[in-house]
Amino acid sequence: MTSEVAALAAEAHSLTAEALAAIAAAADVGALTAARPYLLGRGSPLTGLRRRLGALAPEDRPVAGRALSGALATVETRYDARLEELRAAERRRRLEAERLDLTELPEPPPVGRLHVITQTLQRLEDTFCAMGYTVAEGPEIETEWHNFGALNFPPGHPARDMYDTLYVDHGPPASTLLRTHTSPVQVRVMQSRPPPLYVVAPGRCYRQDTADATHMPVFHQIEGLVIDDGITLGDLAGAIETFTTAYFGAGFTSRLRPSYFPFTEPSAEFDVQRPDGTWLELGGCGVVHPSVLEVCGVDSERWSGFAFGFGIDRLAMLRYGIGDLRDLWTNDVRFLEQF
Ligand code: DAH
Repeated sequence: MTSEVAALAAEAHSLTAEALAAIAAAADVGALTAARPYLLGRGSPLTGLRRRLGALAPEDRPVAGRALSGALATVETRYDARLEELRAAERRRRLEAERLDLTELPEPPPVGRLHVITQTLQRLEDTFCAMGYTVAEGPEIETEWHNFGALNFPPGHPARDMYDTLYVDHGPPASTLLRTHTSPVQVRVMQSRPPPLYVVAPGRCYRQDTADATHMPVFHQIEGLVIDDGITLGDLAGAIETFTTAYFGAGFTSRLRPSYFPFTEPSAEFDVQRPDGTWLELGGCGVVHPSVLEVCGVDSERWSGFAFGFGIDRLAMLRYGIGDLRDLWTNDVRFLEQF
């Protein structure tokens, strides 16, 4: 090898080393591609060495030419590899930056719940539906006739008094009121469909009461009405007992105590006995008075029935250990969230 060829080869070697170092040092795709003309372009120092081939002896040219081509190929291969490497790194960085963490569980938005009275009401409906009853509804603004007259309340009955009942300023004085109990739904059901009837009617009632721990001017009742062939007081007692064990549980039982209501004869109060032996008064009931059947268009010779009604709010107080009825109306979320 002539000294010219050796010198060219040495120069090519050091330019290659320089180029490889520059490739390795390029920090990103932009820096690398910007360096390409200098590394591999026509004007690059390594390519420039080709111009010196002509000055060599003819027999030296192929050797020196192959050495230069090899050097350029080495630089090009390394360039391509580094370019791919830097592109991959950039892709990774971008993906990382745009990544959505699909495993992250955000806090679910707070969902409300049914009010404890609504829950109680629905459980009662479920219990009676399982016993074969359907659910009926009536208006909260009632006529005097549905609320009192049809139910046998005599004209001077204390329940009709302005001090007990919230009359509505609509029509003749004292003709329209906020219903004082759910019993008028009995009247509406009997007027609207023929027996046999197995119906419960839960809903809001209103009385002129001052709010305290056990009274509210707005409260809830559930009414029951059964009209069928040969219904007796025994059927009433059986229905109350079935309800008591279904709703409260196996350790509970019930009893009827004689009482008086204008729309039932005989009438009773029904109590529930807790497993600890104590009795709790729950509501009123009785055999539907024949004159109530007649006034509602039901033949009292052909059909008989029983009815019952009790307060839902006190039932909820008992079931959930609520000490003050007013807490049900204050709408303090911290209180209501407990149920
Ligand atoms: N309506 C009565 C009240 O509010 C409760 C009641 C008693 C309902 C006897 C009835 C019943 O259906 O038969 O005090």
